[in-house]
Amino acid sequence: MSTKKIPHRLYLTEEQMPKQWYNLRADMKEQPDPIINPATGKPAAVEDLYPVFCEELAKQEMDDTTRYIDIPEEVQEMYKIYRPSPLCRAYNLEKALGTPAKIYYKFEGNNTSGSHKLNSAIAQAYYAKQQGITNLTTETGAGQWGTALSEACSYFGINLDIFMVKVSYNQKPFRKAIMETFGGKVIASPSDTTNAGRAILAEDPDNSGSLGCAISEAVEKAVTTENCKYVLGSVLNQVLLHQSIIGLEAKQAMEQLGEYPDVVIGCAGGGSNLGGLIAPFIQDKLTGKANPVIRAIEPASCPSFTRGKYAYDFCDTGKITPMAKMYTLGCTFKPSASHAGGLRYHGMSPILSKLYHDGYMEAEAVEQTKVFEAATMFAKLETILPAPESAHAIRGAIDEALRCKETGEEKTILFGLTGTGYFDMTAYMAFNEGKMADYIPTDEDLAPGFAALPKIPGIQE
Ligand SMILES: Cc1ncc(COP(=O)(O)O)c(C=O)c1O
Repeated sequence: MSTKKIPHRLYLTEEQMPKQWYNLRADMKEQPDPIINPATGKPAAVEDLYPVFCEELAKQEMDDTTRYIDIPEEVQEMYKIYRPSPLCRAYNLEKALGTPAKIYYKFEGNNTSGSHKLNSAIAQAYYAKQQGITNLTTETGAGQWGTALSEACSYFGINLDIFMVKVSYNQKPFRKAIMETFGGKVIASPSDTTNAGRAILAEDPDNSGSLGCAISEAVEKAVTTENCKYVLGSVLNQVLLHQSIIGLEAKQAMEQLGEYPDVVIGCAGGGSNLGGLIAPFIQDKLTGKANPVIRAIEPASCPSFTRGKYAYDFCDTGKITPMAKMYTLGCTFKPSASHAGGLRYHGMSPILSKLYHDGYMEAEAVEQTKVFEAATMFAKLETILPAPESAHAIRGAIDEALRCKETGEEKTILFGLTGTGYFDMTAYMAFNEGKMADYIPTDEDLAPGFAALPKIPGIQE
């Protein structure tokens, strides 16, 4: 056994920061099924995406073959303000658990936006600017993506409208204030500013919103505004591509330490951090170089992987986006008002859905109170207050380490710590005061969402 002391934190140098993103589709034996244009019921062509997305991003979305894509110089320069992000060893957590496992985490909350979302926000704002786009729209759940995109848009001089899920808008006034400080305009969704929002409110005036509903509003606003495009912070292939920098850095740092993970764990909302973290490890799996366990942790209140159906569905509640084949609870599914707002999405990245379906990864659903137990334990030991979303991955890592304690296995665990939770104090207060409840939908609760899955002649009857 090596006697070399592994540092608490390893920062790669700026020069070591990856200069290319990795597109894991290029190594997949079978591709995710194509997205379907709802107007034609046929696979969408790249041009079909141009009215909504920036052209370069639409191309990245459809590119199944280019293995490595250059990170533009200007994006690299902005990445250097906060990257490379550290790979940390959770020595205190290991000790407290009494586990023989080694626990590493890649910390993405070390930037002013507070999460990994900045990695794709910078890229998307950059490509919009390159195309001469003056306005962007987006949605945000917990507010992390909206914050990251506000920062990126302010840097590139682009106007931004953010449809924020109403429950988070009400829970997190300071998130709204940050977005506004960077110049973003924040609208609580569902709103009366779009047809999609008005239709939802007409049916249910107290609707507390969902990511699916906010996406409908943001897309509608983009296609009805001059020189405006829509950008999304998760789910899409292009976002996983940008987030691959997390995994590339993590793997390089582990190599530098002479380490390789037996288990890689990440939280899963729409799949962007997980897709990015696991990218180079999935590459090893796909190419037969190594066989780490890859595990998604999702909330039991919104269990797309573990209880969803692998089917074509709309990415939004208003049914105006293209349809993607993914694990979904149905775009009409209304998740409960959980504190991990960023994980309350009905669907899942088509890439991760395909990998899960083909047996390359596992998934586990965990309850909110168990997640906050893990979050507070981690905060006390490692001194970082995690975002509730990220705390799902911590829960997964702790459970794995405890299994190792039982079996005596000295596994190396790597998990993604995607962000900090300093704007999630309502959630921490509810937990600290013993007022947090767990909600798990029954099969009856899920049935209407499945029944409403779209019918596509010849594809999904
Ligand atoms: C800190 C944090 N982690 C994770 C997520 C989940 O998103 P994704 O699955 O796209 O990584 C979010 C989403 O808002 C988030 O804010």
